[in-house]
Amino acid sequence: MKIIVKDSAADASAAVADMLLQQIGKKQDSVLGLPTGGTPLGVYARLREAYRNGQGSYKFLTTFNLDEYIGLSSNDPESYAAYMLENLFGHVNIDISRTHVPRGSALDAETEAARYESLIAAYGGIDLMLLGLGRNAHIGFNEPGSPHNSRTRRVALTQSTLDANAAYFPAGAVQPSHAITMGIGTILECRKIVVLATGQGKADAVAASVKGPPSEDVPGSALIRHADITIVLDRAAAANLDYAQTRELEA
Ligand code: GLP
Repeated sequence: MKIIVKDSAADASAAVADMLLQQIGKKQDSVLGLPTGGTPLGVYARLREAYRNGQGSYKFLTTFNLDEYIGLSSNDPESYAAYMLENLFGHVNIDISRTHVPRGSALDAETEAARYESLIAAYGGIDLMLLGLGRNAHIGFNEPGSPHNSRTRRVALTQSTLDANAAYFPAGAVQPSHAITMGIGTILECRKIVVLATGQGKADAVAASVKGPPSEDVPGSALIRHADITIVLDRAAAANLDYAQTRELEA
C-alpha cells in the first residue's frame, strides 16, 4: 500500500488526475472504474482542463461507474449517470456507448446487478479503479457489514449515508434509499486501485481503513489486502494516521 499526502485537496486531486492521464496514455483502451460524489469533482475538473489543453484521449476507453441510485433513470439530474455526463463524459472524446453505469431504473435491480457484473468480466476486468471513501468508510455503496467478497448487488443505504448525500438532492427531489453498487469483491479484482480522500470529515474513515485489521465493519479496510493500491490524501484526511504509518508516506 502506498500513501501519498498532499498539502491541499487541490494538489491531491491533481495528483490523481495525473495518475489517470498516465494510465490512459500508457494504455489507450484502458478499462477504468469511476466514482461520483464530491471528492472526485476536482479530479474531473483537472481532466477537463487537461483535455482542453490537448492532453489525454478517451477515444478507446471503457468506463464502469461504481454505483447508481435505484429508481433514478440516466436522465434524472440527480443520477450518477447524469453526474458523469456533466462532469466528464460530456467534455471529452469518449464513446458514450462504452461508458457504463448501473441502470437505476431497471425493473429488477438484482438482474441488472448480475448483468453489470457480467459486463465487467466481458471487458476483461477493470485496469484502474478510482474510489472515494464515505464518512463511515463505505466504498461505492458498500456500507459497514458488507462482506469483503460481495459482488455487484442491490443495497440499502444507511441513515448516515443518506444524511451525507442529502445535500446533493435539491429541495423537493426524492432521495432514493437503495442503490446498485459494485461489490467489495468486484472492486478487489480491479488490477490497480487509487483511493482519494480529502478533508477532516474523512480522517476517521481513512485511519480505520488503513490501520486494519480488515473488518466488515469498515468497508475501506478490505482494500489493504490489495496488491496495487495507492491512497491519495490531503493533510486534513491524513490527520489521524500515526507516526508508524506516516513514515511510509510520500510527499
Ligand atoms: C457516495 C458514493 C461513493 C463516494 C462516497 C463519498 O455515497 N456512493 O462512491 O465515494 O459516498 O462521497 P463524497 O465524495 O461526496 O464524500
